[in-house]
Amino acid sequence: MVTEPESKFIRIDDQEIPFVHGQTIMDATLAAGVYIPHLCHFPGITPQGNCKLCTVEVDGKPLAACTSPAAAGQRIRNNTPELNESRKALTQMLFIEGNHICPSCEKTGNCPLQAMAYHLGMLHGHFPAQFPVREVDASHPTIMLDRDRCILCSLCVRASREVDGKNVFAIAGRGTHASLIVNTANGKLVDSDIEPSDLAARICPVGAILIKEHGYDAPIGKRIFDQHKINEIGLEKIYIAGAKSDDS
Ligand code: SF4
Ligand code: FES
Repeated sequence: MVTEPESKFIRIDDQEIPFVHGQTIMDATLAAGVYIPHLCHFPGITPQGNCKLCTVEVDGKPLAACTSPAAAGQRIRNNTPELNESRKALTQMLFIEGNHICPSCEKTGNCPLQAMAYHLGMLHGHFPAQFPVREVDASHPTIMLDRDRCILCSLCVRASREVDGKNVFAIAGRGTHASLIVNTANGKLVDSDIEPSDLAARICPVGAILIKEHGYDAPIGKRIFDQHKINEIGLEKIYIAGAKSDDS
């Protein structure tokens, strides 16, 4: 006789949701329509736990939901004032570590980092701004890389390897010395095989990778986060379609 596999559940903020073996807490919650704030997670791409925004309390311990396996009986706290305050502080740090000048950024209104700041009620950077000066790579005819806005989420690195079948980007160095590099002999995008239709060129959650000649395309009111909240489930498809260049 074939027996049905036993249903397994986790409990998140008093909601019981099912999961299957191999799912992370993030996989299971997204499948159940429960939002956990995140910036470096993208469905279908191997999670890496870089941004720490998805930190939840699992049986009292802080764990990154995107890299932690779901296990039967876990009691998880997610949407709490304390966790959201920590997420806001992390988001403030991301802002002050880079040059995120939203009103003049081409990505404004279409930027998950900006949308996350609104979601978490961030009104200012709180910490002293660092105003970094990092190398801008404008060498490619259709794609621009502004490292001053990079939050080192590594989504472009993973998307290029895992989805595009290329290996355009890498993160070099550690901690405060970490930086996004281009895997070409001279380190320039122009000598890479990246194309505007690549997921790596469209997945950036800030204005660090931009398709040239497409700034400010959508007027205020028509941009992605004018029409959607970042806590909508399945927004990634809209985000990628919205970020797509007409050239691709
Ligand atoms: S360029 Fe964008 S996608 Fe790539 S690591 Fe930086 S922020 Fe993430
Ligand atoms: S989404 Fe989990 S660490 Fe970034």
